[in-house]
Amino acid sequence: MVTVSKTWVITKYLVELIIKMVVSLPILIALVVGASLYYVFISRRKNKGKLDGKIPSGPWGLPLFGNMLQLDKTSPFLQYDKWAQKYGDIFSVTIFGTPTYVVSDPKMVKEMFSQEPAFAGRFNVGDDVPFNEFYPTSGKVHGVINTEGKDWEDIRRFTLRQLRDFGFGKSTMEGLIMEELKEVLDWMKSNEGKPLTDIKAKMTIAVVNSLWMVISGNRYKHDDPRILALSHDLTKAMEEAASDGAIVFLFPWLEKLGYKGFTSFRNYVDKMRVVFTRAVEEHKETYSADYARDFIDVFLKEVKSCKDSDSAFYKDFGERQLITVVKDLFEAGTETSSTTLSWIFLYMATFPEVQKKMQKEIDDMVGTSRLCGLSDRPSLPYVEAFIAEALRFSSIVPAGVAHRALFDVVYKGYAFPKGTAIFPNLYGIHFNPKIFTDPQSFKPERFLSPDGKTFKKHEALMPFSIGRRQCAGETLARDTLFLYTANIFQRFFVKFDPTDSNANPGLKTSASFLLTPQPYKIVLKDRLA
Ligand code: HEM
Repeated sequence: MVTVSKTWVITKYLVELIIKMVVSLPILIALVVGASLYYVFISRRKNKGKLDGKIPSGPWGLPLFGNMLQLDKTSPFLQYDKWAQKYGDIFSVTIFGTPTYVVSDPKMVKEMFSQEPAFAGRFNVGDDVPFNEFYPTSGKVHGVINTEGKDWEDIRRFTLRQLRDFGFGKSTMEGLIMEELKEVLDWMKSNEGKPLTDIKAKMTIAVVNSLWMVISGNRYKHDDPRILALSHDLTKAMEEAASDGAIVFLFPWLEKLGYKGFTSFRNYVDKMRVVFTRAVEEHKETYSADYARDFIDVFLKEVKSCKDSDSAFYKDFGERQLITVVKDLFEAGTETSSTTLSWIFLYMATFPEVQKKMQKEIDDMVGTSRLCGLSDRPSLPYVEAFIAEALRFSSIVPAGVAHRALFDVVYKGYAFPKGTAIFPNLYGIHFNPKIFTDPQSFKPERFLSPDGKTFKKHEALMPFSIGRRQCAGETLARDTLFLYTANIFQRFFVKFDPTDSNANPGLKTSASFLLTPQPYKIVLKDRLA
């Protein structure tokens, strides 16, 4: 009896298991299909509400992951471009769990970002990831890059006005840029003929200094280890956040399980907070209401005089805004300009005929007995065209910095529910053959008049984005790029290190939020010696 009973129990168990499997398989399939249908038909449209517009078409994604897994880790912008070719000038995807529209028509990007106030929001990747927040425990977003609404408008207006007053676009700024540049030229002379592997680090400090003088009245020595470490931390944090950190955006709880994808980003944020708080504290100790020395002083003055508790400048909140704005300017102004300069050196070495043409123009129009200044711009159209082509070809911020819809809006027949993220497909625009003929060729001539004598702007070239949130440092960046390019190549000829067969890695990019060149090795030769 005992044996029969045991067999019966085992048989019963197996039969039940098989029944369960047979029954649960369809259930499992139904669940998967149901979740996918929910994702495609409901979740992506769930915020549409009563909006009387259509959701742009786009590729299918997976429940939970959306379209994240379809994006290449190192170059997601290439996938955006492929989708743009398939689904058109505006398509929808789900990124970081957020409904996202990608816009690839330059006119539409310009109109949307300039005319429609709803699109001036900033996409926030999530409350649990300190990506947008410099004070993670405060529950508030600070600064200029990541804020939106009235605080952002007030802080941005104030910042732009004060930076202009302290020199942006003026001869004082030109003087500050030239001071750093002269030191760079001396350093290049002393390293003539030697293989140079990290031209970007040198550019970073020089570029930081002219900005830092306006912000804090100080400059760093070009070999200051503190600034080298900050720049290194920023590069590392951006690389990590763009690769392994990306998964933490999607599943913040992974960090609590020990996943380290975002650690260096957090460390970097902590260090930056210390550095910029110290700069502001030092200013407070020596502050005088009668004499504003720099941007930090004028901001402190605004905070001290602010009586409105709703204002972005009010008391401690205002001080935290100041510290974050300083960090924002440092962060946005450093890597961008130095990365573009490192592309410029690479293009010069890769296209020696372009380099010679540019040098001939400088020799003919300015000569070699004095440095080039901003007033030489109109007589150096090829230099201007080269910089425009370098900005197009490098497209270092390939999908811009994401905006988000601040409220429900229907635009050109499309429904933009509140919270929709919006990416301008800047890379796709810059490499669209209908806009820029033969876009894969490096051709400065495309930005010249037919007789080659005048620099021709192109409306679709928008490396600094466009509209209400357009780059706040564009004037400084453009002045820096012009003065560095014209003066460095007036003096030096650059080529890849002939003794190293790996000196030229080609024009592929490294993984990061910014498109950076692969490491290369160059040597400089003084043309005037
Ligand atoms: C080649 C150099 C640079 C490039 C390609 C570049 C590009 C950009 C882009 C694409 C944006 C996003 C705009 C948007 O949201 O639509 C941006 C924003 C910004 N940039 Fe730049 N940038 C450069 C240099 C600078 C410099 C030198 C500074 C500072 C002095 C700076 C400060 C900012 C700030 C503060 C923002 C945020 C504006 C806002 O959200 O209102 N940038 N930049």
